[in-house]
Amino acid sequence: MLGTEIVHYLGRNMLAQDYYNQIGAKKDFEDPLYLEKIAPHISKDAKIVEYGCGYGRLLRLLKKSGYTHLVGFDFSKSMIDRGRRENPDIDLSVTENRKIPLKSESTDMVLISTILTSMIHKDDQKALIAEILRILKPGGILYLSDFLICDHPRYQEKYIQGQKQFGEWGIYTTSENLTVRHHTSRWILDLLSPFDLQWFEQFDFKTMNNNPARTIHCIGKKV
Ligand SMILES: C[S@@+](CC[C@H](N)C(=O)[O-])C[C@H]1O[C@@H](n2cnc3c(N)ncnc32)[C@H](O)[C@@H]1O
Repeated sequence: MLGTEIVHYLGRNMLAQDYYNQIGAKKDFEDPLYLEKIAPHISKDAKIVEYGCGYGRLLRLLKKSGYTHLVGFDFSKSMIDRGRRENPDIDLSVTENRKIPLKSESTDMVLISTILTSMIHKDDQKALIAEILRILKPGGILYLSDFLICDHPRYQEKYIQGQKQFGEWGIYTTSENLTVRHHTSRWILDLLSPFDLQWFEQFDFKTMNNNPARTIHCIGKKV
């Protein structure tokens, strides 16, 4: 179980929001988007929403591939400010508390890429998935990518320390003082259990700080 003080602190998402406002907004992200896996599911004029869109890197990629109806939300004002400068033709807004200010069943695809890693509480992740299910049309898809628990030696000591501090394997605090969670593939598939799973695959990857990592990419369809 997470300690009460830490639950209180992280529960308000202050650490991650501060990190992305002050440090993260100056970084460039790398996790890819497998466009060829998306193409069979949606048309070019489909409404696509990215939650945790950062500075709009993946929405820009979708735009370049011909998708026209793109909307991004992020809780970091610095990220959205940068996104509006770099991608003035994409609709980007700040939102908080896992709320997506859109009508129910209004969206063809939701994208969440490397955002669950900074949502330490599993209940927060479930709440986000419920919000995504609310805005997706029946037959709409969720594309999710995130970090898995990695057996590379550099993580073992971090996971051991994290287990002492947070009581769970996979949560740790980085050298930049960002507390993150790496997931089991079982947990990601549990999160996607309300969806009809269309695809999932694991990849070796390098993080924004050039560290080795393992990621999972998946697509689920709202039934
Ligand atoms: C590693 S960045 C990835 C950005 C983008 N998805 C990409 O791949 O280029 C993670 C983003 O998620 C945002 N984020 C993290 N937790 C969030 C939350 N609870 N609500 C909204 N945005 C969040 C951060 O501000 C940051 O922009």
